[in-house]
Parts: sequence; C-alpha cells; structure tokens
Amino acid sequence: MDIRSVGVVGAGQMGNGIAHVFALAGYDVILTDVNEAALSNAVATIDRNIERQVSRGKVTADDKAAAMARITTTLKLAEVGPCDLIIEAATERETVKQAIFDDLLPHLKPHTILTSNTSSISITRLASRTDRPEKFMGFHFMNPVPVMQLVELIRGIATDQETWDAMHAVVRKLGKTAASAEDFPAFIVNRILMPMINEAVYTLYEGVGSVKSIDESMKLGANHPMGPLELADFIGLDTCLAIMNVLHDGLADTKYRPCPLLTKYVEAGWLGRKTQRGFYDYR
Ligand code: CAA
Repeated sequence: MDIRSVGVVGAGQMGNGIAHVFALAGYDVILTDVNEAALSNAVATIDRNIERQVSRGKVTADDKAAAMARITTTLKLAEVGPCDLIIEAATERETVKQAIFDDLLPHLKPHTILTSNTSSISITRLASRTDRPEKFMGFHFMNPVPVMQLVELIRGIATDQETWDAMHAVVRKLGKTAASAEDFPAFIVNRILMPMINEAVYTLYEGVGSVKSIDESMKLGANHPMGPLELADFIGLDTCLAIMNVLHDGLADTKYRPCPLLTKYVEAGWLGRKTQRGFYDYR
C-alpha cells in the first residue's frame, strides 16, 4: 500500500519530532493540535532542529526547505482524516486518545491506517473502539525522535499482516530500525526502561544517593548517555508515572509500584524540563 500523506495528532515534543522525520523523508504531513500556540511552537522547533542538522552537514538547505514546505498545520482534527496514515501523539491518557479516535472515525478514508505513539497503553483496547482494528497498530517513537534510531511496532490482537508490513516499510523509508513487540503493558522499551528510572527514584527516596551521584553512577558506571533522573526529567515525570501505573495495573505485580517521590513531584507540578523543574532545576 502506498503511503504518501501522514496526519500527526498532537504537536508536543513527540508530535513535532514525528512530523520532522516524516517531512524529511518526503511525506506530506498535516500536524494538528487543539492549541494554536502548540502548533506554532512545533513548527519553530522543527525549523530549529532541522537547521541544526543543516549546520552539521547532515541535511542540505534545499532538503530543509522542501521538508518545511511539506508540513501544514490545522486546528481541525477532521482535516487529518483523509490521510493515508494517522499517528496519534497526544497526552499519555487513554481517555484523551480514545476521544481523538472517536472524533476521527467519520472522516477517515477506507484505506487509512490508524496508529498510536502510546508508550504503554493497550493497542488492542484502543483499536477495539474503532471501525478498523485490523488497520490499527502501535507506532512508538523514542525521544528525541530525529536522533533515536529505534521505532517500536506493536501488533494489536487484530492487526492484519498488510498493515504490519506497510508500517515496517514506512520505518525503513524513515531510515530507522523497527523492533516488533506484542501488545502487553509498556511493550519492550518502557517495560525495561521505566522500572530502572523508578528504581533510581527509589534510590533517591531512600537516601542511598543524591541526584548527582545517582546520575553520575549510571553515566560513568554503566555508560548511559544520560543519568536516569536526568532522563526522567527529559521524558516528563507525568509520563513516567503514567507508564508505571500502566505496568502496575496491567501486570498486577508490586515490583512495578510507582515510587511515592515520583508521585509527589507530579502532584507538585514538577514534571521535569517542560515545567522547568523536576529532579533538576532548569529555571
Ligand atoms: N533534533 C535533531 N537533532 C538533534 C536533536 C533534535 N531534537 N537533539 C539532538 N540532536 C543531535 C545533535 O545535533 C547531535 O548531532 P551530531 O551527532 O551530528 O553532532 C546529536 O543529536 C547529539 O546531540 P548533542 O551533542 O546536543 O547532545 P548529546 O551528545 O548529549 O546527546 C541525546 C543528546 C541524543 C539526547 C543523548 O543524551 C541521549 O541519547 N540521551 C538518551 C535519550 C533516550 O534515552 N531516549 C529515549 C527515552 S525513552 C522514550 O523516548 C520512550 C518513551 O516512551 C518514554
């Protein structure tokens, strides 16, 4: 199946990164959000990030201009409906995602593939509410999207082979590498990564180490590019907590219980870099 037009729902840090890589790979992209400021910020961010690639000689100025010209924005969700592929990249809350798919359904073409960039929520459950569970799957990018090589592809219980193969072809066209995952809570990357981050928060909570010593230990002692607390701030502490709750509820095992300190930070509105405060102070 020939995918040319891509609708991205949600212009936050994942949505703008996804629009960025699709536009550079030659797809026509429509980016939508409920908020005009989010859309204009996203376009400015994409421009800045592609410019960074130009300045490092990874992208030509002509390729940048062509990519920027392929991106349009709209406040009307219905306008992404006719795209060949739709990628939902909204907040990590199931009710929000369900409402988006409900609103999109009347506007879809029969061949449209629906995907969600969810980092943990059941693909099978999201798909079951749509009119096309066989054309629905998980399409999970890593942050920062333009830099990270991996995309997780998650097969819902009803996803058909044609959709699965088409999305593998899309990942190849993006120049990225796909990892195939079955639909269980948090899939592969976050099943492994989030308990490590949560354990780092417990290590802080129990006074075993300071923020600095925990992060330096993992950077210098385990060769991680970022320490786990710095990475949590980068991902967003609300997203980390939401994923831990999906693991805890979905696998019913106390080993996934979110650290009370993580919960407290989220309750305080200290969500990491996006609110200028998390385990580190960015103000
Ligand atoms: N757009 C385009 N390019 C970018 C970029 C962006 N947003 N951010 C960084 N880059 C590029 C830089 O230009 C640089 O390019 P060159 O190699 O050509 O010089 C390269 O990426 C490295 O960037 P920096 O030199 O600025 O910084 P760094 O070396 O410290 O790397 C990092 C930054 C890539 C973010 C690195 O710290 C890293 O890999 N961190 C871990 C990220 C990670 O684990 N992500 C996964 C999170 S989990 C997730 O996303 C799943 C989920 O569901 C929660």
